[in-house]
Amino acid sequence: MNVHKIAVVAGDGIGPEVIDEGIKVLNEVSKLDGSFRFEFTHFPWGCDYYKENGKMMADDGIEQLKKFDAIFLGAVGAPGVPDHISLWDLLLIIRKSFDQYINLRPVKLLKGAPNVLKDVSPEDIDMIFVRENTEGEYAGSGSWLFKGKTNEVVIQDGVFSRKGCERVIRYAYELAKAQGKTLTSISKANALNYSMVFWDQIFEDVGKEYPEVKTFSYLVDAASMFMVKDPKRFEIVVTSNLFGDILTDLGAAIAGGMGLAAGANLNPEREFPSMFEPIHGSAPDIAGTGKANPLATVWSASQMLEFFGYSKWADFLIDCIETVLSEGRVLTPDLGGNATTSKVGDEIIRKLQEFKS
Ligand code: NAD
Ligand code: IPM
Ligand code: MN
Repeated sequence: MNVHKIAVVAGDGIGPEVIDEGIKVLNEVSKLDGSFRFEFTHFPWGCDYYKENGKMMADDGIEQLKKFDAIFLGAVGAPGVPDHISLWDLLLIIRKSFDQYINLRPVKLLKGAPNVLKDVSPEDIDMIFVRENTEGEYAGSGSWLFKGKTNEVVIQDGVFSRKGCERVIRYAYELAKAQGKTLTSISKANALNYSMVFWDQIFEDVGKEYPEVKTFSYLVDAASMFMVKDPKRFEIVVTSNLFGDILTDLGAAIAGGMGLAAGANLNPEREFPSMFEPIHGSAPDIAGTGKANPLATVWSASQMLEFFGYSKWADFLIDCIETVLSEGRVLTPDLGGNATTSKVGDEIIRKLQEFKS
């Protein structure tokens, strides 16, 4: 029996609500399979923990997490705790400490999900974003000078290392090659005359090793427009940390909403645990109401199954999500239904059991 040790950081707001469903689903999959199981260890870290202890996680939190095979994270952030503290001291520090330099975010309109785009057929929305996840605009480098004075200045540096750019771009080329897809790089070299010129140059240089991969390169402003007007242009997409953050919320909007947007933070070398999380936040506006859609988390659970090598189950779980969406009987309010978070989780489990039998 394979045992996978998972650290659960459910976090804040709707985080614990959606993570409960993700865990339920993963347990059901392992039960149905019988050859592996998950061992979940819960960590109480997040904004409540901060309010009590003055810190977002235990001092040796990173050391504790290091022992796990993966991390399952809900969401972080709550009113009353400054976002730059809550996110930096928990989510971002995990991504950086564990060198999770690939943020893999599918932007795919699943069967049965609402298509909000006019004149776009659903099958034309099928991309995978490879977002740089450890440096760039999120390097956390800068300074705050003359605080509170009339000559106050803040500097926020973008840090783009050759190693950091090459590895994420190479990963994207490999993915495009393996899947026989095109690769699009999104940057902004007309204005960001150091970082993005460098990015574009590396995209071109690494591309010489992959003559079989057809490539495109767009400026981020035009790319945002094309994602809405003509999304079929995009298959595999590689971009910087901040552009990837923004474009994948746009991606969520065209692929069924925030309740369906999944993500994996990968350390491809598996030297450290990877982390699986829905891309949405803690949604304080609906927290505690039972309205949170757990399907993004279930999709992230599917990414976790894929990562552990259970591709059949990973695909199967996506099939279950598509069936639940297509039937349209048990959906949360963001998708036009009136079911609760846990009812949707139960419905996924029912589908898993039906498919299996
Ligand atoms: P958000 O993603 O939490 O919410 C944006 C909108 O989408 C809200 O109207 C919310 O109700 C809706 N929504 C999000 N997830 C949903 C779901 N599963 N089902 C139904 N509706 C859903 O973004 P925000 O409001 O900008 O941020 C709230 C907090 O979360 C902030 O503190 C922010 O910093 C944090 N945040 C955390 C993460 C993370 O932990 N990964 C990601 C994004 C934002
Ligand atoms: C995301 C989130 C985070 C990010 C925030 C909460 C720091 O928006 O995962 O998309 O910008 O990466
Ligand atoms: Mn985001």
